[in-house]
Amino acid sequence: MAVLPIVEVPDPRLRLVSKPVEQVDDTTRQLVADMIETMYAASGIGLAAIQVGVASRVLVIDLQAEEDADGKPVRDPKAYINPEVVSVSDELSTYNEGCLSIPEQYAEVARPAACRVRWLDEQGGAHEEELDGLLATCMQHEIDHLNGVLFIDHLSRLKRDMVLKKLTKLRKVA
Ligand code: NI
Repeated sequence: MAVLPIVEVPDPRLRLVSKPVEQVDDTTRQLVADMIETMYAASGIGLAAIQVGVASRVLVIDLQAEEDADGKPVRDPKAYINPEVVSVSDELSTYNEGCLSIPEQYAEVARPAACRVRWLDEQGGAHEEELDGLLATCMQHEIDHLNGVLFIDHLSRLKRDMVLKKLTKLRKVA
């Protein structure tokens, strides 16, 4: 497994529409393993393949919501290949979202509170599930990446410009 460099704004690759995986094979599984390693190294809870420069419809998510006896997050990573939103709830929920491709910037984004999603796992098995809570938000954020959409696209122009300005400032200091 390898930690891969993360693509950040304004890299144009983040605007690409990723291609479906035609066959889930060892190459897909290697990509998944590297993405999981990269997500943990960056302290993220989700990562889309395009964020490591691969325009393939592959996501990894691990909310790491549970802790063990030592207070360390319990790891339970999952891969979602060719994920598709089947339906969404009318009800919205708002989370303070961030993104590894827009480092250290956060903003409140309203999205459907629940969604029904289908996908393939890394063995090629098909799944369909109703998701809610943070997992529903994270899944929609990551699927957006596969369509070249970033969380800042859900903000008003004013707020989006503010986030990008703050990021430019942060990079100058660093
Ligand atoms: Ni993101």
